[in-house]
Amino acid sequence: MKIILSGIKPSGIPTLGNYIGALKNFVSLQEEMKDFEFFVFVADLHAITVPHDVEELRQNIRSVAALYLASGLSVDNLSLFVQSEVHEHAELGYILQTISYMGELERMTQYKDKAKQQKSGIPAALFNYPILMAADILLYDAQYVPVGEDQKQHLELTRNLAERFNNRYGETFVVPEVLVTKTGAKIMDLQDPLKKMDKSANNEKGCIFLLEPIDTIKKKIKSSITDSESKIKYSKSRKPGISNLITIYSALTGLTYTAIEKKYENAGYGLFKNDLADIVANEIGILQEKYHKIINSKMLDDILDMGKAKAQAIAQKKIREVYNKVGLTRG
Ligand code: AMP
Ligand code: TRP
Repeated sequence: MKIILSGIKPSGIPTLGNYIGALKNFVSLQEEMKDFEFFVFVADLHAITVPHDVEELRQNIRSVAALYLASGLSVDNLSLFVQSEVHEHAELGYILQTISYMGELERMTQYKDKAKQQKSGIPAALFNYPILMAADILLYDAQYVPVGEDQKQHLELTRNLAERFNNRYGETFVVPEVLVTKTGAKIMDLQDPLKKMDKSANNEKGCIFLLEPIDTIKKKIKSSITDSESKIKYSKSRKPGISNLITIYSALTGLTYTAIEKKYENAGYGLFKNDLADIVANEIGILQEKYHKIINSKMLDDILDMGKAKAQAIAQKKIREVYNKVGLTRG
């Protein structure tokens, strides 16, 4: 079985960045790569690596699962599950800790960023986060892992750990490859376009949440930060704000940057932002409608139960093989 696998942390409501960089991308991949099985999960164990609200997490786990389906993933070749329900993730995470080096973890930029934000000590799990992520992937022998730009470094570590384990204990894991979207691998904050749009950061105004009122979404786009030149031209270094909006426009309409620039050649930022606000509102509006039908349905639980069973079958087999290889079996 050929597997494509990915996950999203349920730490807050997913954003437009998650939608373009991850969810929407999975949907088109699923259409393109029909001979692959898709394993997609709610990465809840990753959501407790920083302080969290318990009730909110419970709600978000369900919301993220429903959002996967609302974005249009087909259930035909899909296993959708909750990470913590398949215990082997944590087990393999522990085993991989034993072959990981402090030095390589200290180099992870996401760790460095998040560690800085911790007010009362840095949880060890935050440091070990990329190892658990490697376990998520290696447990299933996933061949491809579609993620946004920000996760590339974690994927590189995953590949190193797979190779290290294979060298030390014999061929066990498939070395996975990263798949980054062509457009929109990194959507930036609308108020600070040098930072990525991030649901766990404290930047309400610069971040579009997939489940917030459509009116608010439109307002956020219309009041996004742009430069004073008033020319719709893509230049990430000189015009990060407008370039980010062009990226969003392109990701949602399929138009190239050049086509968008041409279309708005004689227009100002006002018109462009209005159009973009409508495009985003329309797409997220449809997503929200589907979401509300799914969120309280029994179908969602059935799909998650089935996904869990399929994931477990593979994970159990793999963890037995791993225990055996490292000598964790009675002599
Ligand atoms: P996270 O929200 O960190 O769990 O991320 C889930 C997925 O969304 C990962 O594949 C990320 O790379 C992707 N992602 C998160 N934020 C963005 C963003 N601002 N732009 C593009 N992709 C993103
Ligand atoms: N770490 C990813 C993120 O923050 C989420 C994630 C966890 C993931 N495990 C994964 C993504 C395995 C891909 C594959 O975005």
